[in-house]
Amino acid sequence: MNSFRKIIITSGPTREWLDPVRYISNASSGKMGYHIAESFARKVDVEIVYIHGNTLEKYANVPNVTKNIAVDTTIQLRDVVISEITNDTLLVMAAAPADFRPIMTAKHKIKKENQEGTKNGLLLELEENPDVLVSVTDHILGNNLHNVMRVGFAAETQDLDKNAKAKILKKGIGYIIGNYVGHNIGFGEIDSSVIIYNADGIVKKIGPFPKELIAEQIVEFLLNI
Ligand code: CTP
Repeated sequence: MNSFRKIIITSGPTREWLDPVRYISNASSGKMGYHIAESFARKVDVEIVYIHGNTLEKYANVPNVTKNIAVDTTIQLRDVVISEITNDTLLVMAAAPADFRPIMTAKHKIKKENQEGTKNGLLLELEENPDVLVSVTDHILGNNLHNVMRVGFAAETQDLDKNAKAKILKKGIGYIIGNYVGHNIGFGEIDSSVIIYNADGIVKKIGPFPKELIAEQIVEFLLNI
């Protein structure tokens, strides 16, 4: 194995609040990240940190890891990930951070009436969230950290090869684990397939299998890079 002394796994969706009761998020369950963390914990004796967003309850706490940390928003996720990065770390970003957040969170519940300027609707103004992997890459370069391997996931509805490779370059990371998602594909409990890419192209295909087995094989792969 590479000489990683710490493994960080992120998991699940982040939430961006519109008001005290409503948020923007996505359909990630946290299952893949959970099983990756759980598999690392069974296989290696290094520090393991599991950082999760709003996963299903059963994917919120991984047994036998050093720390389970809950976060809510994408900015919180970025800040916690950066605070945990040290030399000789493997970061597996299985989380599905919300890419946009409302420009402001209303202090009180937004009411249906009083929506001036719209026709029986509500106009939302969103701003872009930071990209956690890009922020981590900048942090590593800015602080001269060494041996920090970053692995991302690319959930795509089309052009997986092209998008996966573009994300490796844009985020400055070592590997992308790609899969197709859509309504009833790739999220939640059902079987899926993944393709692992590096900057040169496809390095491994896994599945279709249940996510537990996919996670197990991803971990085997990462322990041998
Ligand atoms: N990611 C991240 N920070 C974000 C969004 C995504 O670090 N704000 C990470 C994810 O955890 C994943 C990888 O980047 O490992 C790719 O995520 P994905 O949602 O597929 O891509 P995006 O970069 O958000 O691009 P797009 O939504 O335009 O496809």
